[in-house]
Amino acid sequence: MKGRVRVSGAKNAVLPILAASLLASRGTSHIEDVPALLDVQIMMDTVAALGAVVERHGATVRVNAERLHSVEPPAELVRRMRASFVVAGPLLSRFGEATVALPGGCNIGPRPVDLHIKGFEAMGATAVIENGAVRLQAPPGGLRGARIYLDIPSVGATQNIMMAACLAKGLTVIENAAKEPENVDLANYLNKMGARVRGAGTDTIRVEGVEELHGAAHNVIPDRIEAGTYLIAGAVVGDGVYVENAVSQHVMSLIAKLEEAGVHIEDDVAGIRVWPAEQRRLRALDVKTNFYPAYPTDLQAQIVAGLTHSLGTSTVTETVFENRFMHVAELQRMGAEIHIEGRTAIIEGVEQLSGAQVTATDLRAGAALVIAGLMADGVTEVLGVHHIDRGYDNLVGKLQALGADIRRVED
Ligand code: UD1
Repeated sequence: MKGRVRVSGAKNAVLPILAASLLASRGTSHIEDVPALLDVQIMMDTVAALGAVVERHGATVRVNAERLHSVEPPAELVRRMRASFVVAGPLLSRFGEATVALPGGCNIGPRPVDLHIKGFEAMGATAVIENGAVRLQAPPGGLRGARIYLDIPSVGATQNIMMAACLAKGLTVIENAAKEPENVDLANYLNKMGARVRGAGTDTIRVEGVEELHGAAHNVIPDRIEAGTYLIAGAVVGDGVYVENAVSQHVMSLIAKLEEAGVHIEDDVAGIRVWPAEQRRLRALDVKTNFYPAYPTDLQAQIVAGLTHSLGTSTVTETVFENRFMHVAELQRMGAEIHIEGRTAIIEGVEQLSGAQVTATDLRAGAALVIAGLMADGVTEVLGVHHIDRGYDNLVGKLQALGADIRRVED
């Protein structure tokens, strides 16, 4: 593969930004560089179901939330995507109540929302769980600012609490907050809407409550996980791939690992170029996922795929989610030599993978299988592509443009 591939706007930034738009009691938001993804459609539908006017024109989405008629998003939409739970914070903050189904989402182990709920409770809300949903009620006079320490720097809990705090009375301080770039993007958007959020991107976020928020214009940051996926693909099956719009600061941990594996990387203000490792075989690596700025769990499956053909024995340890090695069994069907010990995958590099029929079990596992298919001898058929549609804008078209022999045979 060679040439240029452009990274779309970040899924994980757009989702909370669409939810945050519910906080605006006047004006229309214009959100730019919104990727065409199933998950984004689910969030747009969720926001629209509450009464907001949501329109898409190309990569721009407009949201007007002046007149909402419900504080209860349809359970079937929330259950389809865990990230939908972030509508709880904005609704509770603006209307003093919200009833939100307990979420579903990717099939990657237990993913509770206890930290989100503890945060709301610290701000004076009551939470009652009944019929598979949580009913949240603010105290008389609305949410009150509070000091909240997160046991885990949860991305979603940080977002929900940050948004809930925007219209609360007084100061909220979130300690041990998630530092992910998507949360910084959300904070920037909230501030354009009139909020007073400081410290996003550090461990401590401070939010001074304001009376009301308004619509704002915002350009979403590029998707660092999509960028990382193309960088890994470029390292193992590329011949000089330029990943346009990739921000090197957001993928530092991956770049460090690829360089350690013998890959040559050059970055400039507009993107990152990746030259493959010698003979397109990575040197063995030890990789451990963790919260930002460490190596992201959302790029774990893709690096496992890349390392199946490496020189020597690699280890990849997953510390963020339990049960996130479902791609391993599929990669084994393609000839990969991997075994799992607890939370670590031990990968013996093999000379050649061979094409097989495999099944994507979640979004990033799907991307990993596509990378493995590009590396393998013969034809690989990836089933379950709807998982890939959740988070990759036009994966097939973008890879084709780089010269990959890939096509979509059915939905
Ligand atoms: C977000 C990302 C997801 C990414 C993940 C970790 C979005 C839409 N999704 O998911 O792609 O894989 O961050 O980088 O942005 N936890 C609790 N209690 C809670 C909340 C979380 O125990 O109340 C645990 C989870 O089970 C998990 C860990 O904390 O083990 C991290 O989860 P979290 O950071 O909340 O991930 P998400 O926001 O769901």
